Amino acid sequence: MRGKAQLWGYGEVCTPEFEHLELFTMRSGEGIIQEMYAFEDKGGRQLALRPELTAAVLRMYVNEGRTLPKPLRWFYFADCFRYERPQKGRYRQFWQFGVELIGADTAAADAEVILLAHDLLSSAGLTFEMQVGHLAPMRHLLSGLDEHSQRAAMAYLDKRDFDGLAAHLADAGQDALLQNLRALVAARSLDELTVVCGDIPETERIRAVVGILEGSGISYTLNFGIARGLDYYTGTVFEAFAENLGAENQVLGGGAYRLAHLFGGDDVGSCGFAIGFDRVMVALGNSEQQRGTVVALLFTPEVQARAFEIARTLRDAGITVEINLQDRGIGAQLKHAGRSADFAVILGPREYEAGLVTLRDLRTGEQHECTLEETVDGVKGRDARR
Ligand code: HAM
Repeated sequence: MRGKAQLWGYGEVCTPEFEHLELFTMRSGEGIIQEMYAFEDKGGRQLALRPELTAAVLRMYVNEGRTLPKPLRWFYFADCFRYERPQKGRYRQFWQFGVELIGADTAAADAEVILLAHDLLSSAGLTFEMQVGHLAPMRHLLSGLDEHSQRAAMAYLDKRDFDGLAAHLADAGQDALLQNLRALVAARSLDELTVVCGDIPETERIRAVVGILEGSGISYTLNFGIARGLDYYTGTVFEAFAENLGAENQVLGGGAYRLAHLFGGDDVGSCGFAIGFDRVMVALGNSEQQRGTVVALLFTPEVQARAFEIARTLRDAGITVEINLQDRGIGAQLKHAGRSADFAVILGPREYEAGLVTLRDLRTGEQHECTLEETVDGVKGRDARR
């Protein structure tokens, strides 16, 4: 994922594990506040372990990055903390791989971030469904509600809890909205969207994003029922869902937002997402760690110094070397090497005198004396044939 993000021009950033609590309470929404690990430090400051990085990265932008040429393309791979009930795919400490594109408020910027998200998940080998939406149609339908009530309705929509939504709308005297909201959530094309909420100013932007996504050929579905759990989003929003994860199948969430002005910066438009890295790993299932060819370096005590030199030469040539560290004979060393290595390089007094080593292929049992250059060629030749 790091390599892919760099190919798109994104550079890695780091922020502290904890921040002032206020950074997250300002705009992230009720849900996240309840889930935070908040504490007071010895100086009486209210702090929180970061539940996510967007607010922290935008604080960093305001403090350190305001004069840099925009847009800024940043990514991070970091652990986050949320006080939730742990279950499969939901942890109190988990990892996010995320990106923030700061200072470009265009359809092209929204599309770039969605395409990058798609590229990262695909390159991880994941089977997933990408859903793309925009908050404007939902907010347009809910515009008769006050802000608090609107947020509550969006929280129900975010959880696809239509019973809760129906009760909430009834309390607010807006029962009639339910049918339209259901139709909005079911809309899968721009035409269906227009039927539900007419032509709103944001349609142009939505059409432009969809145009770029269509041109790129990625597979995705439109979903105008995406509300997102965090409160700072302003426009395009998107989520991705993976197979075989059960209830916690959302592996990615993101969208366009404005946060910098809350932290004393300019009101820049930004767009980003975070991938739930642990969920990606669970979805991919157990995979053997790829391990290259390993050489075990065995030796008799009197030639130890030369053995360490040989180990360095082989590592300089890019070969993985595990040198013997135990006080035991060559026979015992060989037996151990047979369990952990592909080749043994053996150095005894005879080889030392001749300026050679014995190279033994541990799989076939073949062995011969050779120079260090021949050893490198022999090991790498096998590597190349793999
Ligand atoms: P989020 O949807 O709260 O968005 O989290 C992003 C992803 O983190 C989720 O889709 C999920 O895969 C993973 N995740 C969340 N909570 C947990 C947990 N308790 N255990 C395991 N995985 C979890 C954000 O955090 C935004 N900051 C994304 C963003 C970046 N928006 C704009 N820029």
